[in-house]
Amino acid sequence: MSDHFQAQLDELRAQSLHRKLREIGSAQGPEIQIVGQQLVNFSSNDYLGLANDPVLRQAATAAVEEFGVGAGASRLISGTQSPHVRLESALAKWKGTQAALCFSSGYAAAVGTLPALAGKQDVILLDKLSHASLIDGAKLSGATIRVFPHNHLGKLESHLEWARREHPESRVVIVTESVFSMDGNRAPLRELVGLKKRFGALLLLDEAHAIGVIGPHGRGLAAEEGLAKHVDVQMGTLSKALGVSGGYVCGSRPLIEWLVNRARSFIFSTAPPPAFAAAAMAAVDLLASPLGEDRRLLLWERIETLRKALNFGAGKVQGGSAIHPLVVGDEQAALQLARALQVEGFLVPAIRYPTVAKGAARLRVTVTASHTESQIHALVEAIHRLQPELKATG
Ligand SMILES: Cc1ncc(COP(=O)(O)O)c(C=O)c1O
Repeated sequence: MSDHFQAQLDELRAQSLHRKLREIGSAQGPEIQIVGQQLVNFSSNDYLGLANDPVLRQAATAAVEEFGVGAGASRLISGTQSPHVRLESALAKWKGTQAALCFSSGYAAAVGTLPALAGKQDVILLDKLSHASLIDGAKLSGATIRVFPHNHLGKLESHLEWARREHPESRVVIVTESVFSMDGNRAPLRELVGLKKRFGALLLLDEAHAIGVIGPHGRGLAAEEGLAKHVDVQMGTLSKALGVSGGYVCGSRPLIEWLVNRARSFIFSTAPPPAFAAAAMAAVDLLASPLGEDRRLLLWERIETLRKALNFGAGKVQGGSAIHPLVVGDEQAALQLARALQVEGFLVPAIRYPTVAKGAARLRVTVTASHTESQIHALVEAIHRLQPELKATG
């Protein structure tokens, strides 16, 4: 048996698709310690630098003192502790929805929510670049799945026409992301809302990479475009800009009550530790405050610095985000460039299949509010020196 796995691993290595874990001996931040080397970290989704923020640490420590370390059971058994309840109220207030529900991860939120929204008699229409958690959730639901090319409104419209013609009684759910995790571009939300209304579909929007980054007080793309009340299921994660861990869904009270009764990843899993909920609530409070707004504006200054230094035209990354892909294409070439950057003192991950399509390997540069201008310029100088032709991609 072990020979069998070895052969499969060798095959992955031969295709430059093998992955291995790296031990990091420090807290997350703009600089991290990795196997004895100090690296400037352009790999994390801790966009606002909250993962090691003293206010969040204090909130978690205080919750450990009061509530201990484990939740003891699933939320419906005896695991709903005060920090979970407070976090959900704070999330609903911040996002302006009737209610919110937290999950142990963004992944769990997706694989729990989609099968609760749609069953085998229903239809799910997925953007081609949707995150794995959304794809897995859609598959688990047993619904008929149709994938539309990335951000392709014409194709989505024809899928909607087909769904209404062939499945007139079914629920139709459109699934997309505000900011695409490996490309950094945005969904055309206004047009998507127009289509969902025209065809009487539901819209699930994963705001994982928009929360904390985009919109008033970091409330996401739907809030920025004034469309929040038209998005039926506002999903996101507490693990990226909010710096902690866990996923969430915000929406109407009946939706949330339905998820409490039907989302299997919520029902059949021990609640997240209360300290995570307390830290996440401190993050929500911070984001809703002037201090949070300052941090978000600082992030956007850093994004602009990186964008200009990389020579991305403004039109190329419409709207923008903290994610900047440098598409190399070949898997081996992407790995080599990531290794060369590591030698120079930068951690930038090479993203390969199956996270992106074969032949679309890339370096994914993420910038945070905690980076300094000089760290950003040093990275870009190294990229241009190591691979000058990358200047033109993006
Ligand atoms: C778009 C998107 N949705 C969901 C997730 C999953 O979130 P989490 O890391 O909290 O499980 C991720 C992150 O990996 C993501 O990029």
